[in-house]
Amino acid sequence: MKKYLVIGNPIEHSLSPKLHNYWIKKNNLHANYDKLLVNKDNISRVFNNLRNNIIEGINVTIPFKKEVIAFLDNLSEEAEITQSVNTIYKQEEKLIGHNTDIAGFELAIRYTKYNVQGKKVLILGAGGVTPSIVYALRRLKASEIFISNRTFEKAEEIKKRFEYLNILKWGEKYSFDMIINATSIGLNNDDQIKLTYENKAENQFFYDVIYNPGETNFLKEAKKNFHKTENGKMMFIYQAHQAFTLWHKLMPEINQDVIGLING
Ligand code: ATR
Repeated sequence: MKKYLVIGNPIEHSLSPKLHNYWIKKNNLHANYDKLLVNKDNISRVFNNLRNNIIEGINVTIPFKKEVIAFLDNLSEEAEITQSVNTIYKQEEKLIGHNTDIAGFELAIRYTKYNVQGKKVLILGAGGVTPSIVYALRRLKASEIFISNRTFEKAEEIKKRFEYLNILKWGEKYSFDMIINATSIGLNNDDQIKLTYENKAENQFFYDVIYNPGETNFLKEAKKNFHKTENGKMMFIYQAHQAFTLWHKLMPEINQDVIGLING
């Protein structure tokens, strides 16, 4: 039985086991996917188990996507550029860190049929997932990419790795084609983003990385103003799909049953 894990803190709400175990069963694989709460003191044990073949592969979530790099032998280009690892696999006894959030976001945007090429995009937040979104937007040929974060220095840190980025002060007003919420504001139903961003222009696209709740106040407000909206559900499914394909060397199906597994 091959064992896979998602590690993070907190981890109890992770829907990755549900998704991966569904695909494992559908494809008759002799494997199991579990979640594990880790902290700074015991995280190294997980990597010993990975090296000793007790575990086959690992997904990483908040807040360890950067911290795990110290335990790995090599990084994929995507993980290197973003300094963010969400998927770990083994190749000839070496531990490789990869980032499937980039492809997850890119495929999710393609799935909406929205054409990012030539668009001016604002990302709210400079946390763990922001570098992946920046990189994907660049690949999708956005004409300008702005980030805005409550803690200005964290936006500056990200800009060091992506020199083409523009920084907007938190709360500063500006007009965009696409606005992405990559903050954790909205995870609680009554969370409100206290921003005065320009949302009166027509045909704007409001995207929220959050998928549970399925409609944050950020998206509700945008909908009221007749904008296009989308939550992070397909991004979540596609990043898992990429990890599954990498580990098991087969592409599981994404259909309505799979989409229905994820709340939101
Ligand atoms: P981390 O910062 O550990 O990577 P994250 O969940 O990936 O965690 O990121 C949280 C993001 O939401 C950050 O951009 C954070 O802004 P700060 O860098 O200023 O902390 C943002 N965030 C969370 N709560 C917020 C709030 N009440 N107002 C504005 N931004 C908030």
